[in-house]
Amino acid sequence: MKPRDRLRIAVQKSGRLSDASQDLLSRCGLRFRHSRDKLFCFGESLAIDLLLVRDDDIPGLIADGVCDLGIVGRNVLAEQECAAQLRGETPAFEELRSLGFGRCRLSIALPQELDYDGASSLDGLRIATTYPALTTQWLKSEGVDAKVVVLSGSVEIAPKLGTADAICDLVSTGATLQANQLREAIGILESEAVLAGSTTAPKGERGELMELLLRRIEGVIQVRE
Ligand code: PRP
Ligand code: ZN
Ligand code: MG
Repeated sequence: MKPRDRLRIAVQKSGRLSDASQDLLSRCGLRFRHSRDKLFCFGESLAIDLLLVRDDDIPGLIADGVCDLGIVGRNVLAEQECAAQLRGETPAFEELRSLGFGRCRLSIALPQELDYDGASSLDGLRIATTYPALTTQWLKSEGVDAKVVVLSGSVEIAPKLGTADAICDLVSTGATLQANQLREAIGILESEAVLAGSTTAPKGERGELMELLLRRIEGVIQVRE
């Protein structure tokens, strides 16, 4: 593969972090020409291109060197980091800095009628989640013997469907839990949008572009705070 000169940054295509991520980049002075399929956006103001992808794919794209940077929830990075550790591997991506938006938490939630009186209340339950590594690690650290049921989405409906007794999912406003008659029991991870990058920073032109972008992000965030 021919080495890339241009820097590439991945952001969520559609979801909670999409608009704020693109807004941050535009405040950094980045302008893009959107392609027909809208997945790859060519940077017109600087040699920095944008890739619009599923948030869960961002750590892998960085690890594989397809992208240099990504804007993603700490929850996604932490889950994939934890999963790598459970496999005995060291992840090739890392959090570079927090971005101050998209705050939420990963929490265990129970149906209204189930009481929560500490972690041992979860003993023997089936817990549905899209975050199996973080959930498993937390249950283990609390000495809870519960079964983790892995789902790829619509976790909140699992207790109603009878496929699980409780869930472990992201809570932001709490509206989703409320709509599904679930009550937050305990938070296991605080999250927000972060800038992620490779554990080996790019060199040469791309390295310089990355430093420039990091300085601009710093400036934008300081103005906001
Ligand atoms: C999260 C989570 C809930 C929702 C909670 O999904 O899975 O569905 O947000 O937010 P609320 O408390 O404000 O109702 P997210 O948008 O992060 O997307 P994903 O799970 O599809 O990746
Ligand atoms: Zn996702
Ligand atoms: Mg969701």
